Amino acid sequence: MSQLKRGLFLTFEGVDGAGKSTHVGWTVEQLKSRGVNVISTREPGGTAVGEKLRELLLHESMGLECETLLMFAARVQHLREIIEPALEAGTWVVCDRFTDATFAYQGGGREMGLSRIAELEQWVHPHLQPDRTWLFDVPLEIARERLDRTREKDRFEREADAFFLRTRAVYLARAAQQAQRFSVVDATASIQEIRQSLTQQLDALVAQSRQV
Ligand code: TMP
Repeated sequence: MSQLKRGLFLTFEGVDGAGKSTHVGWTVEQLKSRGVNVISTREPGGTAVGEKLRELLLHESMGLECETLLMFAARVQHLREIIEPALEAGTWVVCDRFTDATFAYQGGGREMGLSRIAELEQWVHPHLQPDRTWLFDVPLEIARERLDRTREKDRFEREADAFFLRTRAVYLARAAQQAQRFSVVDATASIQEIRQSLTQQLDALVAQSRQV
């Protein structure tokens, strides 16, 4: 009997206003149309308790340690309840944000530094990293312009320019350090151009996953 192949774990990251969420649903549809068994989820959130924590995280004021621990509280529930069982069953998981966001936002944006977050990562998911992370990168002015066109802003979207710049810098540094996992998307490009590049990468991932 052939052994079941683990599903791939794909994540989307970027500062607020980078436009990544537009591409998440599209990617899932593309994978489904290629016959991949896939689920779509998000952080913070993805479970009943995680979605409640998301409400608090996005709208209640709180200290940085509380914010960081709640991000990981939501994450550990998400991993144990949804992500890990899916991957083990051979299902692919597309997740809108994961631990890279905590390094970038709490570590960089809020200036907590990276070591505490690395400790929490070691505790919660020592052996799991995304197989591919698309980092949607945009300059400040464009992100601001896009955010100004959107609905009411949450606690993170209301942050100052310096917060945005620190968050973006950590994302880009991680992408450079872990280049085998990250794919940086120039999110100033048109939706069509971005989709063209994503299509090629998805085709390659699906082809690789089917090789014996
Ligand atoms: P979203 O708007 O992309 O759904 O993300 C919700 C917000 O939560 C976004 O502003 C980034 C923030 N966030 C963190 O600060 N740390 C994290 O670990 C995660 C997952 C999200």
